[in-house]
Amino acid sequence: MTSAIFPSPHLISIADLSAETLETLLTRTARFADHPDAGSLHRGRSVVNLFYENSTRTRLSFELAAKRLGCEVMNIDIATSSVKKGESLGDTARTISAMGVDAIVIRHENAGVAAEIAALVDCAVINGGDGTNEHPTQALLDAFTIKQQKGRIAGLTVAICGDIRHSRVAKSNLHFLGKLGANLRLIAPDALMPEPNAALPSVARYGRLEDGIKDADVIMMLRIQLERMNGAAPPDLAAYQAAYRLDHTLLAKAKPDAIVMHPGPLNRTIEITDAVADDARHSVILRQVRNGVSARMAVLDLLLSRRSAAV
Ligand code: NCD
Repeated sequence: MTSAIFPSPHLISIADLSAETLETLLTRTARFADHPDAGSLHRGRSVVNLFYENSTRTRLSFELAAKRLGCEVMNIDIATSSVKKGESLGDTARTISAMGVDAIVIRHENAGVAAEIAALVDCAVINGGDGTNEHPTQALLDAFTIKQQKGRIAGLTVAICGDIRHSRVAKSNLHFLGKLGANLRLIAPDALMPEPNAALPSVARYGRLEDGIKDADVIMMLRIQLERMNGAAPPDLAAYQAAYRLDHTLLAKAKPDAIVMHPGPLNRTIEITDAVADDARHSVILRQVRNGVSARMAVLDLLLSRRSAAV
């Protein structure tokens, strides 16, 4: 594979990227999806996973992606690291960078941390989710999954339902899918709906799930992110479940070939019934997980190739 040009040494947010760069990311993801054993393109390079928040899919898929590219990969266990001795985040990141690693994947509960770290270190920084801000590689794997299933993104109606206000996945997806021409709908109770934000692409807002998913091509369900609510009163789960849980009766209002997505982790029975989550005709949730490895290979490949070209 030749090295495509990526416009930045880091991947911090989808909001920063052009539609053309998003297409480059999708094309590169497709190549790794078709050829998962594309060879050890980046043998000898090293990647560190620095996760201050819990993760199953994102951390593991970055690890697998790095290994498939031939990289050495290390996971920092925050619980046993010097963070527990009071070391600052900046010093931890600079320490890792000083060892000569090529990329740090960082996940943190505070918005803006990935950008702050990128300004401090010599290596590539990939945002694995920063607070309620962005989760760019999730948006890439989601957009790739939509394109794989539907053949296109432009013109599709994508309904995102759930705790959008606290969701970095929703934000990155709105930027990604908006730039590529999807019609976007948000469905949430007022307390979980984001404030109108001029920086986000235009969206239609719905308070009722059955209105918002009418004739949708893609339905993306989200978990209620209690840990990102900063002490705000949590929603009444029984009322939420009664109004916003996706079941087959509601799903029938979407297009007959609608796909159901969820970034995980699922809170089964709260935002989605078991029957819908496991419905092989509509649910692409495990396909998203699978595509996450290819998407992260694509991002690592582009950033590591850019580094090689720079030295
Ligand atoms: C998401 C995240 O961490 O933002 N999960 C993920 O990366 N697949 C969604 C969530 O936490 O609900």
